[in-house]
Amino acid sequence: MGDSRERLHGTWASRWTFILAATGSAVGLGNIWKFPYIAGENGGGAFVLMYLACILLVGVPVMMAEVMLGRKGRMSPINAMRRITREAGLHGRWNGIGWMGVVAGVLILSYYAVIAGWALYYVVKMSDGSLQGASGDEAARQFAALLGDPGTLIFCQTLFMVLTMGVVVAGVVRGLGVAVRTLMPLLFVLLVVLLVYSARQGDFAAAVDFLFSFRTESLTWTGVLVSLGHAFFTLSLGMGAIMAYGAYMPEHAPIGKTVITIAILDTLVALMAGMAIFPIVFGSPGVEPNAGPSLMFQTLPVIFGNMPGGLFFGALFFVLVSVAAWSSSISLIEPGVAWLIESKGMNRVTANLLLGFVAWLIGLGTVLSFNVWQGYTLGGDTFFDIMDFFTASVMLPLTGLFIAIFVGWIMKPGVVFEALGDDAPRTLQAWRFILRYLSPLAIGVIFVVGLYNKFFLA
Ligand code: PHE
Repeated sequence: MGDSRERLHGTWASRWTFILAATGSAVGLGNIWKFPYIAGENGGGAFVLMYLACILLVGVPVMMAEVMLGRKGRMSPINAMRRITREAGLHGRWNGIGWMGVVAGVLILSYYAVIAGWALYYVVKMSDGSLQGASGDEAARQFAALLGDPGTLIFCQTLFMVLTMGVVVAGVVRGLGVAVRTLMPLLFVLLVVLLVYSARQGDFAAAVDFLFSFRTESLTWTGVLVSLGHAFFTLSLGMGAIMAYGAYMPEHAPIGKTVITIAILDTLVALMAGMAIFPIVFGSPGVEPNAGPSLMFQTLPVIFGNMPGGLFFGALFFVLVSVAAWSSSISLIEPGVAWLIESKGMNRVTANLLLGFVAWLIGLGTVLSFNVWQGYTLGGDTFFDIMDFFTASVMLPLTGLFIAIFVGWIMKPGVVFEALGDDAPRTLQAWRFILRYLSPLAIGVIFVVGLYNKFFLA
């Protein structure tokens, strides 16, 4: 009796541990900073619809596959793949799925830390009063001043890396669960407050129209590829993060239900961020929907600068965004760290410092691409643009495609269904159908046509 109760509790705790860790990984800069600006750059409504379709038809099925592989392999993604392929007598080239993930994680972390550094900077910036009563023009001007100052950018990037690494090295990753459990709901609440103020202060109707009315003419195939890539990026797919966390899933917990919960939470946060930012875009001069990576930093200060207690709420908001970025960063580096520990005999501290240093070094390129190197472009793309496109729109979807093919076509259905756990048989059948046919087809077509458009028609 006591024994089974204990097991029940253990199971409950680890299913929720997984949900917390995966949500901590999924909800981050991708939702609050990236989604609004790429929606703005790609014309709004049609892009948002494509993004939602990609989440549903590609993101959710691939996420289920990744969690399943992680739970079955119970090791770092590279070694989990090794073990699964070896047990099933499959070709070792499938292990490339794990490798690509490790590389993608470090590359993404390189620019992720730079952007997180901006958020850290805004904690101080919001509280010092310099943005009190700011207009859109003023907020844009102050942000441009930050971008023009590589010294400060590098300081903030380094500070974020030190905080992230410090926490990992100090072995307080357990604190992650506590932070996510208490601070993420607070972030959610603050987003609601922000949305309400933004709706009153800006042009809410124009924002809703922009984000939700379907205008195909403003969406290019490259934009569709960006929406697909973002479905992977925002759910932390295609690089092993979710696979690594899948090891926390108890044996029979239903993967389908769990994954859908996480996808809904993640999408909600992104849509809320968009609905907070766009009323300001349309309600105040000086900010354009296609402002790019600056968008969030040109709009949110306008709301905070003009609401009661705004300096406090503004500072708090950027603290929460930094925490969200922090819990995502840890998952970006975890697949590589776990692999270095298992296969290279490194200890956790060395592994983290090594990969963290590599990411920091590459990140300097992103810092400079906003100022000194601004003029050095390839087909109009800066170093940051190239890193972002190559990781989010090329590496993640490709790895996702391989995962869909591997789980949908190569692994035996019996093994897959058993590994998935207690979802209803109908759900599992539908899932396998989507993963076998729709997901690979969607990724393949969007990938080929999107790249063709970017490189040959631009
Ligand atoms: N999902 C995170 C975000 O939206 C970023 C991320 C991508 C984290 C890939 C881990 C792996 O901010």
